[in-house]
Amino acid sequence: MQLFDVYPLNDITIEKAEGSYVYDDKGTRYLDLYGGHAVISIGHGHKHYITRITEQLAKVGFYSNSVKIPQQVALAEKLGHLSGKEDYQLFLCNSGAEANENAMKLASFATGRKKIIAFTKAFHGRTSLAVAATDNPAIIAPVNQTDNIIFLPFNDPEALNTCFAEQGDLIAAVITEGIQGVGGIHEATISFLQTIRHCCNRYNSVFIADSVQCGYGRTGLFYAHDYSGVNADIYTMAKGMGNGFPVAGISIAPHLQAKHFMLGSTFGGNHLACAAALAVLEVMAAENLLQNAAATGNYLLQALRQMEGIAAVRGRGLMIGIELPPNRTEVKKNLLFRHHIFTGEAKPNVIRLLPALNLTTEAADHFLHALKQELH
Ligand SMILES: Cc1ncc(COP(=O)(O)O)c(C=O)c1O
Repeated sequence: MQLFDVYPLNDITIEKAEGSYVYDDKGTRYLDLYGGHAVISIGHGHKHYITRITEQLAKVGFYSNSVKIPQQVALAEKLGHLSGKEDYQLFLCNSGAEANENAMKLASFATGRKKIIAFTKAFHGRTSLAVAATDNPAIIAPVNQTDNIIFLPFNDPEALNTCFAEQGDLIAAVITEGIQGVGGIHEATISFLQTIRHCCNRYNSVFIADSVQCGYGRTGLFYAHDYSGVNADIYTMAKGMGNGFPVAGISIAPHLQAKHFMLGSTFGGNHLACAAALAVLEVMAAENLLQNAAATGNYLLQALRQMEGIAAVRGRGLMIGIELPPNRTEVKKNLLFRHHIFTGEAKPNVIRLLPALNLTTEAADHFLHALKQELH
């Protein structure tokens, strides 16, 4: 059997990983500023993470959601505390798309409405509703096409007000990333997020904060949307939550009430996934990783803003977009193959940095030095 060929691959095989570094099968060391797409939050191979998962595996790895799973309760408590949303409720699933899918379903159940507002350049995943709310026709299969999603321009409070004035009583939810990732690292403005909150309050719609990529401490606050000073009704999370273990969740405001079997998942919240997610939160708290993300992120942002040859620098904390001039398409490949540094990308020519939250300034300097060389 062959693999279904869905990803263009770099000719690199990773065999070992430690902290912010990965090693290929020839022993070459790479600096990982991509974090496997914002997934590696506490660093590769963290000792506490390995111990926590191994110990759990030796006891029980999986049993279904038909029994009590105390690890889920512990995770909800810890997450409520670290995210500052202690009165929210946690539903556990397995991926970012699934988190958004469940968030939008829940909003529709709760309001009895069908329409969802999403924004230009948004990415919310590849399941049916999540992909329909994603602004990329190339990945929307005919069966996923629906009139229930209304796309509005990102960061345009006026357009939002107008849409709600015209059809507010049909709107189940508004979904937005705090910083658009796949869209090229574009931050939602504070006034835009506050307008979403205002409209959702006025028309009893649900504000969904897609925090799959920008959340979980990446920007220095637990959720990137927190910079606006308003709360969303649902936060969706995945990537950094398990440091590579597939675990995702939605954090749900107290006014949204559960009914049995309204949502569900076979694997969601299993013992092993909870152990991974608990280990991540424990390390984040013990090692002050939110503070480090803010400090090291600022350090990088300041240095990048002074560097010549860059068209624009965007982002917050350790979610950084470096927009290069259109003719400098070779830089990302050169960083990887000449300097052995993994970075992410976004179209048309943006380098995305999504490293582990414990990135050191030495590793940041290593990258800045390599980028400077490439841009001269
Ligand atoms: C903002 C955002 N939402 C949702 C997703 C989908 O997550 P997953 O690939 O885990 O389904 C992604 C993935 O890149 C994302 O960046």
